[in-house]
Amino acid sequence: MRELEAKFGVDGAIEFEMCDELVCCNIQNDVCSGRIFLHGAHVSQFQPTGKRPLLFTSEQAIFRDGTAIRGGIPICFPWFGSHATDSSLPSHGLVRQKSWELKSVEVDSRKSILELATTTELFDVRYMAEFGEQLKVTLHVSNSSDKPQSFEAALHSYFQLSNVKDVLVTGLESVGYLDQLEPKEHPPSGHPIEFTEETDRIYQSTGNTITIIDEGLGREIVIEKSNSQSTVVWNPWIAKSSRMSDFDDDQWQNMCCIETANIGSEAIKLEPGYAIEMGATHSITESSS
Ligand code: BG6
Repeated sequence: MRELEAKFGVDGAIEFEMCDELVCCNIQNDVCSGRIFLHGAHVSQFQPTGKRPLLFTSEQAIFRDGTAIRGGIPICFPWFGSHATDSSLPSHGLVRQKSWELKSVEVDSRKSILELATTTELFDVRYMAEFGEQLKVTLHVSNSSDKPQSFEAALHSYFQLSNVKDVLVTGLESVGYLDQLEPKEHPPSGHPIEFTEETDRIYQSTGNTITIIDEGLGREIVIEKSNSQSTVVWNPWIAKSSRMSDFDDDQWQNMCCIETANIGSEAIKLEPGYAIEMGATHSITESSS
């Protein structure tokens, strides 16, 4: 940690600390504060000055090597969910439970940009997290092998809510979805999403901007996707929450995941040496602002 501090630390703006077994970087500038872990390049906090936090993190989250952090923005890569052929491999890929390298930090009074990198057998991966009035995250993937390769990716954002039963999610009214719980394809609903039970849906062929309308917190969260054709919507509800060891039984009420993704039929194929970027910009509009 001392090395990180010497190389990247900026008093009051970029500071490192241990969170249980993991190193995290605390970010502060004139317009926001935030936190990112080297583990998983995991953004766990983002709070524009004078507003409430954007992201949800579980009270029971585990901060340990080899485990994914429950909350914030885990990065699922190079596959989503279970591995297609080898069930012994971890859910949601290989990079959310391992340490990334911090490559660079740029700081000014209104923006702090951190770039992290990791590799898998077939890909070089970089992640840019920009903490400003908005939170912008960009995943850059290049095929480092000598053959064409496909990957899936999801920025598995957990958002903080007043109560999931009281929010509306707009932007996906005209998009059909795969219900992962049945599993079954559904036609477009024509309505904003309301959460009334366990929800685990994959919306395909949509680059649409998503808005979470949360009257209880008097705010809207806007998720502008870039180069992402899938959106995953997830809330574990009651029974699944009680089965998750890193999640309190009642915490499902205060979160939902809206994931910026390219998965399933929207997996991305890259020729050797080629690269692609995908990402999302998250902003908060409060009723009073
Ligand atoms: C969502 C999936 O993206 O992640 C759900 O659609 C899954 O099926 C959820 O339960 C959490 O996954 P994990 O591996 O973090 O427990």
